[in-house]
Amino acid sequence: MPAAEPTAAQLAESLLAFWADGGVDAMMLDEPVDRIAAGRILPPPRPSTPVATAPAPRPGPVQRDISGAVAQAQALAAAAQDFDALVAAIAGFEGCPLRHEGAATQAVVFRGDPKAPLMVIGEAPGADEDVLGQPFVGRAGKLLDRMLTAAGLQDRVLITNTVYWRPPGNRTPTQAEQAICAPFVERMIALVKPRMLLLAGGASAKSMLRREEGILSLRGRWLEWKSSDGALELPAMPTLHPAFLLRQPGAKKKAWSDLLTLTERLDRPDRPH
Ligand code: URA
Repeated sequence: MPAAEPTAAQLAESLLAFWADGGVDAMMLDEPVDRIAAGRILPPPRPSTPVATAPAPRPGPVQRDISGAVAQAQALAAAAQDFDALVAAIAGFEGCPLRHEGAATQAVVFRGDPKAPLMVIGEAPGADEDVLGQPFVGRAGKLLDRMLTAAGLQDRVLITNTVYWRPPGNRTPTQAEQAICAPFVERMIALVKPRMLLLAGGASAKSMLRREEGILSLRGRWLEWKSSDGALELPAMPTLHPAFLLRQPGAKKKAWSDLLTLTERLDRPDRPH
């Protein structure tokens, strides 16, 4: 008797197992989907047979109200009287959807010196960071560390991100996710009191500076970061993300030049920043 043909389900299962063996642990669409803005509403089921009538207009994205989560983050951040209390508040915060979607293990808050004169703000934790609980500890982080060490900054830095949980499949964090975490980022800046910020990657630079341009046009320039109430201001240097530099080693000299510009200002003894 000829062997039975595998069913579609068996074929799909075998393909998924093949991908899982290769390290694929998330399904991505070609275009990013902001599931917060979409209100997690699934599209209506497709009719099984084509209908001859004109298609019904598609509803626009449903804006999920994130104001409650933002307000809760603001209240928790404001109540944190010192750095340790802030870290504990972030770790206990349930309001960021990433906590329940992407992160396998824990909040990834910071590494480095809580009194550092320089804060590096990346985009979001990845898989290695999720496991180890510290930002920039994977390949991109190793490159960042080598660059900081070469610039003499390794002991003068605190490293964090715009969001504290790994986005599923390492996608870029959405503006809504960044807005929910922003009160904690701002409070961290207020408590650490760095003299300047290094913003690694477009998603960090755009969110921190509230600008639309891409990182290639933002990088290498001194721009002003302002807190949302306008009470705090700091010079900020956007630069290329180390993960991008791993893919495009030819761009390293631009990032190195950004770092030297920043170090020169950080080391300037005589002028207020
Ligand atoms: N990329 C980031 O932006 N942050 C990390 O912590 C790791 C990789």
